[in-house]
Amino acid sequence: MKFERIPHSAPMPTAERDAALANPGFGTLFSDHMVTIDYDEAKGGWYSAKIGPREPLMLDPAASVLHYAQEIFEGLKAYKQVDGSIAFFRPEANARRLNASADRLAMPHLPEELFIQSVKELVRTDKDWFPTVEGGALYLRPFMIATEPFLGVRPAKQYKFLVIASPAGNYFKSGAKAVSIWISDYTRAAPGGTGEAKCGGNYAASLVPTGQAFAMGHDQVLFLDAAEHKWVEELGGMNLFFVFDDGRVITPPLGGTILPGITRNSLITLLREQGLEVSEEKYSIDQWREDARSGRLIETMACGTAAVVTPVGKVSGPAGEFEIGSGGPGQLTMKIREKLVGIQKGAVEDTHGWVMKLD
Ligand code: PLP
Ligand code: COI
Repeated sequence: MKFERIPHSAPMPTAERDAALANPGFGTLFSDHMVTIDYDEAKGGWYSAKIGPREPLMLDPAASVLHYAQEIFEGLKAYKQVDGSIAFFRPEANARRLNASADRLAMPHLPEELFIQSVKELVRTDKDWFPTVEGGALYLRPFMIATEPFLGVRPAKQYKFLVIASPAGNYFKSGAKAVSIWISDYTRAAPGGTGEAKCGGNYAASLVPTGQAFAMGHDQVLFLDAAEHKWVEELGGMNLFFVFDDGRVITPPLGGTILPGITRNSLITLLREQGLEVSEEKYSIDQWREDARSGRLIETMACGTAAVVTPVGKVSGPAGEFEIGSGGPGQLTMKIREKLVGIQKGAVEDTHGWVMKLD
């Protein structure tokens, strides 16, 4: 699709931008431009692709996204490679997952090529927005909203797809230090619900428990399964892996209630290549506590695009708390993090075709 270019009349001054890029944090700094593409069933699908200044949207107050949360999103990163070029990590996987989420939320598919073209257009336009901080990347947030104005409850017939970019440093203020997590009593997702879709509603449901975890000084919230409140599912924005002293690694299975993380999928492959036995297996909170106390469980890692691979050091809940290993970063966690980051930055050979160059 041909993108119409709308010139920016007031981009951020270079000195201001460069100062911001040296210390971007996560999710509060945004680049100058955005992509928008409209959809109308009556017009036969997607039309009017634009790349222009990042600016507030005009939405009818009856737009159904504002009432019934018909919204889905993605998160991926563009990386400055060690050779100076720019590349994405597995963007096709994000394009596919967006369409899987669209299926669950009764939204139209966006052709995968158009997803890739959109993120490329934005990164090419905002190529001067890469953070200069160690471990930084340009985080991309593609998302789709229902724009049709009506109040009846049904799938909309008009949508907008957008991509914005946010220069990002570490997700956790502590960097790659071990994080502390809080076991929530609340349920994030139930069987037959929307847990495996990346839709805003799942995150809305996670905000009270996340707020509670933060208020108690923890870094993330942990959700258990809805039916028994027994099985470990995932964190607010990350998947989990458990490492045992006999070289086995397990990660909760994709049963429809957790997000099929692209980092999770990549780690399964990389860990198996290290000769480790990785299984997708249910793991109960009681077993986890017992294994951590006995020393059989030696590491726990959280993973996601924003969090990369982050060690979990302490787990707390209404029934008390327990430490993982010595409470600090585990060896395998840091080794696999380095390998993944190496591939993403082009410092380690990409034998899986995961890295897509911008040009
Ligand atoms: N689980 C949840 C709830 C998430 O929000 C994320 C982040 O996107 C993940 C897991 C990890 O997914 P990915 O590795 O694709 O970023
Ligand atoms: C991501 O890792 O891309 C996410 O969407 C998770 C969120 C916590 C920022």
